[in-house]
Amino acid sequence: MKKILIFTLAVTLALCGAQAQKKNTNKNNRVPAADGTFNEEAKPLEALETIELPMSYEGLHAPLLHAMKERRTIRDLREEDIPIEIISSLLWSAYGYNRPDEMKRVAPSAVNVQEYDIYLFTREGIYLYNAEKNSILLIVKGDHRKEISQQKHFAIAPVSIVMVANYDRMKLFKTTEDRDFYAAVDAGYISQNIYLFCASANLGTVACGGINRDDIHKLLGITNGRAMLAHPVGMF
Ligand SMILES: Cc1cc2nc3c(=O)[nH]c(=O)nc-3n(C[C@H](O)[C@H](O)[C@H](O)COP(=O)(O)O)c2cc1C
Repeated sequence: MKKILIFTLAVTLALCGAQAQKKNTNKNNRVPAADGTFNEEAKPLEALETIELPMSYEGLHAPLLHAMKERRTIRDLREEDIPIEIISSLLWSAYGYNRPDEMKRVAPSAVNVQEYDIYLFTREGIYLYNAEKNSILLIVKGDHRKEISQQKHFAIAPVSIVMVANYDRMKLFKTTEDRDFYAAVDAGYISQNIYLFCASANLGTVACGGINRDDIHKLLGITNGRAMLAHPVGMF
């Protein structure tokens, strides 16, 4: 019964998916060279395009305890696309603002530094989640899913979330050890939110620490941060 309901929801949402609005925000079309490097080092990547996300999380009502009961690692993912409304809710569950007036998020962070940047790898490109505007910004064109890790689920899953701790926002932690510690702890909350959302939406995911950090840093222009965990997400 639950599967039928989820399927019906997914089909309905897929029909609405075309409403996702696209607009160009950057005429420079800045893309990395073949080796993944950029000419201007240390500059944050500019958005090539913005996709505004529809909010639909209120439509998902799986009780928390049910989602907790269903939470598990699922590596056998399918290739099918996930509707944009579901992706919107996935990103919001991972790291959206649940108290926008206070600029506070669904996941806690030590001293509220909110150090994470959430990247979405898709067939079309790599997007940066903008929680404030509820949108995703295309920052690198092309399919880079396989570059996240050799693990096969990344090549198959339609989307993967890569969580990057931005150490520029963690300057009040004086030592590298402290930054690493708090960034690792904060990653756990985001990862569990992703797991619980997937359990409630009947999607599969796996938290992966075995990722190509150096390649990801190069691809995303990260010079003072750490790609901590990645989550391929898909139907199963
Ligand atoms: C920090 C962390 C890193 C992980 N890294 C990987 C990984 O690289 N590849 C993988 O297949 N599973 C990875 N896992 C998933 C664990 O293997 C999985 O959570 C564990 O086997 C327990 O299964 P469960 O999540 O279904 O309870 C990771 C889990 C955590 C919490």
